[in-house]
Order: sequence, then structure tokens, then C-alpha cells
Amino acid sequence: DGKGPIGGSLLKWYDAHARVMPWRVSPADRAGGMRPDPYRVWLSEVMLQQTTVAAVRDYFHRFTERWPDVAALAAAEDADVMAQWAGLGYYARARNLLKCARVVADELSGQFPQTAPELQKLPGIGPYTAGAIAAIAFDAPVPVVDGNVERVVSRLFAVQTPLPTAKPELTELTAQITPDQRPGDFAQAMMDLGATICTPRNPACAICPLIGACAAQAQGIAADLPRKAAKKPK
Ligand code: ADE
Repeated sequence: DGKGPIGGSLLKWYDAHARVMPWRVSPADRAGGMRPDPYRVWLSEVMLQQTTVAAVRDYFHRFTERWPDVAALAAAEDADVMAQWAGLGYYARARNLLKCARVVADELSGQFPQTAPELQKLPGIGPYTAGAIAAIAFDAPVPVVDGNVERVVSRLFAVQTPLPTAKPELTELTAQITPDQRPGDFAQAMMDLGATICTPRNPACAICPLIGACAAQAQGIAADLPRKAAKKPK
């Protein structure tokens, strides 16, 4: 894939170990040419903005059963959407969700834009979410850096700069290792690696597919990274 051994090793691991999620296409289906549905990718990313995968799952199923595509959601009553969202919190997300669905349905012929800059113009889609949708739904080779990915990358390159100062550096390093082939799967593989192996405490380096590429592991400091700026006293 032209970006060194990390992308290839990680994608191979992902094909065998990806977490099953209702908005993902399984590696087998993906190999058969199936693509993720941009509507489902968008809905999942908005729900996941401030909420865990475990909490989102049931909400995602209820939303997609009731409103299977962006046109259906755009035509929903505001009160029905707010009621279905109840319990997920951060209710501005639900209001922006409806606004966004209506823009896409009414002004964009039901098609989500395919690039991060265009996606970011839509209600409720900030820089992170725009990049995640562009990568996962449309295979745009953009770096997708959430908290899990920050940890994985800071360890791979033994970044000593503390967060949040390290953020631009980590984004640049993520861009450098993001492959041209399957960047969306690569992004989700980084998230899965951070959630299951490259965990905050007691990382399972012995079974990590990237052990040979990890500078922190080589230096024996994986569990000490990422460094974080000392909290200011209140
Ligand atoms: N968090 C945000 N987006 C995600 C995704 N696509 N897979 C797993 N965790 C996520």
C-alpha cells in the first residue's frame, strides 16, 4: 500500500479481529465488494461523538429500523426523533441530526458529500466527524484521530510531548501511516486496536500485530504513554 508495513499488518489483523458493529461491513462482505452505507456511518458517528459503542448499539438499531434511510429521517416529526434520542444525552446532537438529514434529503438529492471539507459544512458535523465519515464511508485517505488512536500513535512513535499539545503531531503521524488502500478500515482498525489491545493500562503488547513497529514497546514505556499535561489546580 506504499506506506510501509504498519498499514498492511494492521489491516490483516482487522480482517481477522474487527469488532462486529451494526454500521460496519464485515471484512468478508467488504472483500465481496460491499460498501458501508453513508447514512449509517453518519448516524453512528454522530451517536458516538460523546457516547460509548456499548451505549450506542441499541439506539442505532432503533433509529435504523424506524428510519432506514436519510429521506425517512428527514421526514420524521421532530418530537419523535427527540423521543428516540432520549437517554443518549447532548440533545443538540439530535436537533442537528434532523437538520442535517433535511439538508441532505432536500438539497443534496439524498446523497452525503464525499469529502471532509464538504461534510463539515453540514449541521452537527465537526472536523473529527467529517474525517471519520469521509474515511469510513468513502475511503478518503484522511487521518482519523480519536482518543484510542492518540494512544496507539503516541506509543508507535514514542511521542513524549504531552497531550493536548501533542495533538497536531499525532495527527501528522497518523496521516503518515494511513494507507491509500482501505483508509476507512485502517481508521477503524486503529480504534479497535486501542480499545482491545493497546489499552490505557496493561496493554497486551505480546499479542499486538504492531509489536515490531512500536517504539514505546522497544523502549519498555508503552504503558507510560501518552503523557498528559499536569492538570491545573482548581
Ligand atoms: N468510535 C467512533 N467511530 C467508531 C467506529 N467506526 N468504530 C469504533 N469506534 C468508533
